[in-house]
Amino acid sequence: MTSAAKPEADQTVSGQLRRALHPGGWSLRGRLLGQLVALVAVACVVMGVVTEVGLRTFLLDKLNGQLAGSIQRVDSPIGGDQGQLPLGPPTSGRLRFLGGGAGTAIVVIDNGTVTDAYTINQQNYGKPVKLPPDALAAMETVQVGKRPSTVDLGGSLGAHQVIAVASDRTPGRVLIVGLSVVDINSTLLSTGLIMLGVALIAVLLTALAGELIIRYTLTPLRRVAATASRVAELPLERGEVALSVRVADRDTNPRTEVGQVGSALNRMLGHIANALAVRHASEMRVRKFVADASHELRTPLAAIRGYAELTRRSGDKVPPDIARAMDRVESESIRMTALVEDLLLLARLDAGRPLRRQPVDLTQLAVDSVSDAHVAGPDHKWRITVPDIPVIVPGDEPRLRQVLANLLANARTHTPTGTTVEVAIAQLDTGEVRISVTDDGPGIPPSLLPEVFERFARGDSSRSRAAGSTGLGLSIVAAVVTAHRGNVTVTSRPGHTEFAVHIPSED
Ligand SMILES: Nc1ncnc2c1ncn2[C@@H]1O[C@H](COP(=O)(O)OP(=O)(O)OP(=O)(O)O)[C@@H](O)[C@H]1O
Ligand SMILES: [Mg+2]
Repeated sequence: MTSAAKPEADQTVSGQLRRALHPGGWSLRGRLLGQLVALVAVACVVMGVVTEVGLRTFLLDKLNGQLAGSIQRVDSPIGGDQGQLPLGPPTSGRLRFLGGGAGTAIVVIDNGTVTDAYTINQQNYGKPVKLPPDALAAMETVQVGKRPSTVDLGGSLGAHQVIAVASDRTPGRVLIVGLSVVDINSTLLSTGLIMLGVALIAVLLTALAGELIIRYTLTPLRRVAATASRVAELPLERGEVALSVRVADRDTNPRTEVGQVGSALNRMLGHIANALAVRHASEMRVRKFVADASHELRTPLAAIRGYAELTRRSGDKVPPDIARAMDRVESESIRMTALVEDLLLLARLDAGRPLRRQPVDLTQLAVDSVSDAHVAGPDHKWRITVPDIPVIVPGDEPRLRQVLANLLANARTHTPTGTTVEVAIAQLDTGEVRISVTDDGPGIPPSLLPEVFERFARGDSSRSRAAGSTGLGLSIVAAVVTAHRGNVTVTSRPGHTEFAVHIPSED
């Protein structure tokens, strides 16, 4: 049978990767977890940035305070407080430098001439050394009287927070003092690294704990989904359906979201169960009506046919019009009897009336059917392929005979003369028997193919009706084969039409 091709999903590696990375294709659990981890990561980043910025501001403010103190001390009078350290040559004792720790740079400019330019750093064990020229030049760029600014002194000195002020005590003197911010930077770096470590641990723990919590939280939803899946697997399309599957009470608490889904699903299942029961009852009524009507029609039809036959055989002279009319009555009553028999059989099969189950020799059945077909259609070519040993299946012999007869009648009536029809029987390894009826006729119209097993489905309806066709033949085949727990399929194209029936060979 033909089937509409579904649009194929992109199966390439990049397509699969794109689908895996696209959050739309993630499970709810994956999405919640992703969002949770992203939220914690963003919180950590915000916390880290705010802490770093705040800490930097705080430390720089503190350094600026120290800078102000240093300026005071550098500008103090010679021979001031105890503990003042005289700078070595060439300061000639003009300048006192008190408490300048490592990382301090000092420039003294008297009336535009640099008179002192020193730095104290770690490498020199706290001793003042001459400031390199490029560092001096960088220090001199700082404007007098402005707020402290950060200046890169280059080389091993690094960045300094530098302030330039006019001396309170010595007119014409400008003091430029810088304090290294290297310590602050290293403090910020260490803090940043610690926070990064903590953030990574926090994200990892969130992912682990989140996975457990979300999995636990979604358990009821999974139970509800499992119930829905069980319902989806039930065969609801026909017959009496016992739709007893429901979501468990613990998952139907309307105060929880999952409970709302669960109770809504239960209500929906209740409605569906009712609808199915009503549908089944109405189906049963229709079937009973068809079966009763067909049964009731058999007797009057037999009577009509009998009287028509009697009139024909009576030998009395009847006008030709009446004789033709009686012939039509007889032939139509024969056709209607066949139709009524078909309807009655379908109604009985629909009602699930058990079939006889006795060993049926399919080989013999096929041989008989093909010879009957040969007699009915001598202008067709008939072939048969059967295994050497008889193929026996449990089943209802008259019904299986009817299956073959219907398929062969189709191959005869819906193909032109000269068509080759082949019946083949094979015992399969799967424990099934395959009966196929193949012809090389014009084939079944593609528009009819998907519904060829439906009741009253016919090809060219006007032509078929003229040929006495009703469109029940293949629906009887399908119903009988299904009642034998088998299936029937058809493939058809011009020049090759094959009906394949599979029936289990064991009970
Ligand atoms: N072998 C075939 N070749 C071409 N068309 C076929 C063949 N078998 C079935 N068909 C098409 O399928 C339709 C349905 O077949 P089905 O046997 O159900 O009804 P029918 O033969 O028309 O009537 P009935 O068998 O009840 O007398 C036919 O009308 C015909 O158009
Ligand atoms: Mg038919």
